[in-house]
Amino acid sequence: MTNQFKPMNNVVAILVTIAFAIVFFILFMLIPEPENKKASSPAGQSSGNARAFPSGLTGEVLFNRACSQCHTLPPLTHRSPEDWRILVLKMNRNMQQTGKNYLTPEEVQPVVDYILSRQKPA
Ligand code: HEC
Repeated sequence: MTNQFKPMNNVVAILVTIAFAIVFFILFMLIPEPENKKASSPAGQSSGNARAFPSGLTGEVLFNRACSQCHTLPPLTHRSPEDWRILVLKMNRNMQQTGKNYLTPEEVQPVVDYILSRQKPA
């Protein structure tokens, strides 16, 4: 029997190892991005097109645009500043959860200020 098993020599072994490493690396790069990566936004359960308003809008414009997305603009009855703030924050959460355009944290106060300036007297 001349057909004896011979161990691979070291150079060949290293080349084979590198070749496999390259093949695995290429396969790894081909793995598609997981779909749920997009769901990391606060509007995770929405249709995914929720977004902020263009920057630089006044409280009045933001109020008109943001607060008419689901119902007619609410009557500005008299409430305490804190009550209005809580309500706007609650509505803003509605907007995020339903995939509407929503207010950024910096836009909440101008909207509250606008409402307070226009609310009916006590
Ligand atoms: C994503 C949809 C949505 C948007 C946008 C929205 N609202 Fe509402 N709003 C609702 C729903 C639903 C209710 C009724 C249920 C409730 O009271 O939470 C409601 C009720 C209200 C009420 C009556 C409830 C109460 O407590 O007196 C007021 C006032 C109001 N909204 C103001 C606003 C203002 C101000 C904005 C803008 C900052 C706004 N809404 C934007 C969904 C929305």
